[in-house]
Amino acid sequence: MRTHYCGELNESHNDQTVSLCGWVHRRRDHGGVIFLDLRDRDGITQIVFDPDTVESFATAEQVRNEFVVKVVGRVRARPEGTVNSEMSTGQIEVLGKELEILNAADTPPFQLDEHMGVSEDVRLRNRFIDLRRPEMLNRMKMRSQITSSIRRYLDEGGFLDIETPILTRATPEGARDYLVPSRTHPGKFFALPQSPQLFKQLLMVSGIDRYYQIAKCFRDEDLRADRQPEFTQIDMETSFMDEDEIMAISETMIKEVFNKHLGVELSDFPRMTHEEAVRKYGIDRPDLRISMQLVDIADLMKEVEFKVFNAPANDPASRVVVLKVDGGATLSRKQIDEYTEFVAIYGARGLAWIKVNDIDAGLEGLQSPILKFMPEEIVQKVLERTEAKTGDILFFGADKASIVNEAIGALRVRLGEDLDMLECEWAPVWVVDFPMFEFDEKEGSYTSVHHPFTAPSCSPEELAENPGTALSRAYDMVLNGTELGGGSIRINKPEMQKAVFTVLGISPEEAEEKFGFLLNGLRYGCPPHGGIAFGLDRLVMMMTGTQSIRDVIAFPKTQSASCLLTNAPGEVNNKQLRELNIRLREQAKPSATPQEGE
Ligand code: AMO
Ligand code: AMP
Repeated sequence: MRTHYCGELNESHNDQTVSLCGWVHRRRDHGGVIFLDLRDRDGITQIVFDPDTVESFATAEQVRNEFVVKVVGRVRARPEGTVNSEMSTGQIEVLGKELEILNAADTPPFQLDEHMGVSEDVRLRNRFIDLRRPEMLNRMKMRSQITSSIRRYLDEGGFLDIETPILTRATPEGARDYLVPSRTHPGKFFALPQSPQLFKQLLMVSGIDRYYQIAKCFRDEDLRADRQPEFTQIDMETSFMDEDEIMAISETMIKEVFNKHLGVELSDFPRMTHEEAVRKYGIDRPDLRISMQLVDIADLMKEVEFKVFNAPANDPASRVVVLKVDGGATLSRKQIDEYTEFVAIYGARGLAWIKVNDIDAGLEGLQSPILKFMPEEIVQKVLERTEAKTGDILFFGADKASIVNEAIGALRVRLGEDLDMLECEWAPVWVVDFPMFEFDEKEGSYTSVHHPFTAPSCSPEELAENPGTALSRAYDMVLNGTELGGGSIRINKPEMQKAVFTVLGISPEEAEEKFGFLLNGLRYGCPPHGGIAFGLDRLVMMMTGTQSIRDVIAFPKTQSASCLLTNAPGEVNNKQLRELNIRLREQAKPSATPQEGE
């Protein structure tokens, strides 16, 4: 039907007769002539109809925005003064000779170039229109190209692309499962995979050696700007490779993608232990574009009278830290109050501060609500340790370590952004030496930091003795404070797997029932193996510079995990429920469930 895409025309096509198909982006009636901006996947071309071509001019008068049309016409240079340097096709226009309406369109719910004025709900409900926006189309194109580069990289690296089941058993990655009732096995359920973890490990037992999959994963967890209930992983697993080799292969993959699609040369990724990341940045995925660090001062605060500081200073489970902000003394009281409210979100009960107005003037040169509580020599030591200078502000956090880490860690990033302290565009880092387990105070038991199949750096005996301090052979790739990927060397011996299950409080019977197939695999010649998975959506989100993961997924779900386009999840009829042997509880009947937006 067509000879060219709209976006590809330029002066080299002058005088050619072309045939274009697409959507009417805008129609302008300029008295004597009608202009149509014709849009397709590739771009926009301006078409001009003048009254001499009677029939097509009459048709042009009828078309409206988003009509689907076919145009035949001649490319010509735009008259002087009408060249549009903003448009790739801005040098030319097409003098329309024939115009055929292929399909009419109702008035769209929003104009494509006025999408900013409409809520995301309206865009999601009409996603088929939203995706017509060049911005969205470009993100979809970029996603397709990135995925294709990654496939090529892995194919060339000898990785085999193998599909694993979607209807399966629970794969413990820490989130809730999406369950699917079985009709043929009354009372039983499939779980959708949280990741292909166990299957990819079994593929190593089978001798596949190098596996990858662009895999859909499903997790019923609290959603955030970088999380979806259904998302895509670049999932990899290899045999006979150690962590250095796996990290090298995946680091090169990410570097190549950045180079090819953004023209960005990432330098070698530094490595940081989990302990160092938490100590210096309060978080296991530090944003290293900002160099500010948390500085511990508990040792200086053990004796001070100020209870807010001395109580945590004497509690091993607490932390007292300072964050020195270069040039921060210019912050107003109002701004400091806002930051105090900000840290309160993370449970901090206050945000003490000292402004350094003149570092050479002793206490006189400082301004702070807490100076009266502290001896001068202690204040002096704090200034020395933080290397404070005239014009800086010091913020203090004192509480349970988890609260201080989260609150001051988040404040660090917030201040870095607010005060323009980003020192580079891209700051990747490998975080290594994660703890094997974390202790869940509420449950009174250990949970895996990565997943229960991750190998520890110690023997099963040492693990059993000191689970709280055992480290794992896991690694996370972090970019600008976002966890892009995570993986580990896996357990390949049944004794070790059992030792881990024991720490996690999983009985041998439960282990057999849930993961018997994996334990069997470990008994029949399981090679040393390990792997990693990257969040494809997150990678594309970062590479396209958007803030929301929904912007890089064609048909995403909302914050409350529903699809506004299809209205999923939806009700099912009684016949279907009966076939599945399911009876709904009174409060779960659809009329009792709140609808989106209520
Ligand atoms: P993990 O749970 O760390 O590891 O997930 C790997 C990567 O997947 C991405 N990701 C998500 N992206 C969008 N929405 C979500 N809800 C979501 N959850 C995770 C992140 C994360 O780094 N089986 C292991 C990998 C392995 O050990 O090989 C796993 O799934 O970018
Ligand atoms: P108060 O004695 O509660 O008025 O606190 C004095 C100063 O300490 C105020 O600036 C508070 O914001 C700050 N503050 C209180 N609790 C904490 C805390 N847990 N960590 C850091 N600063 C705090």
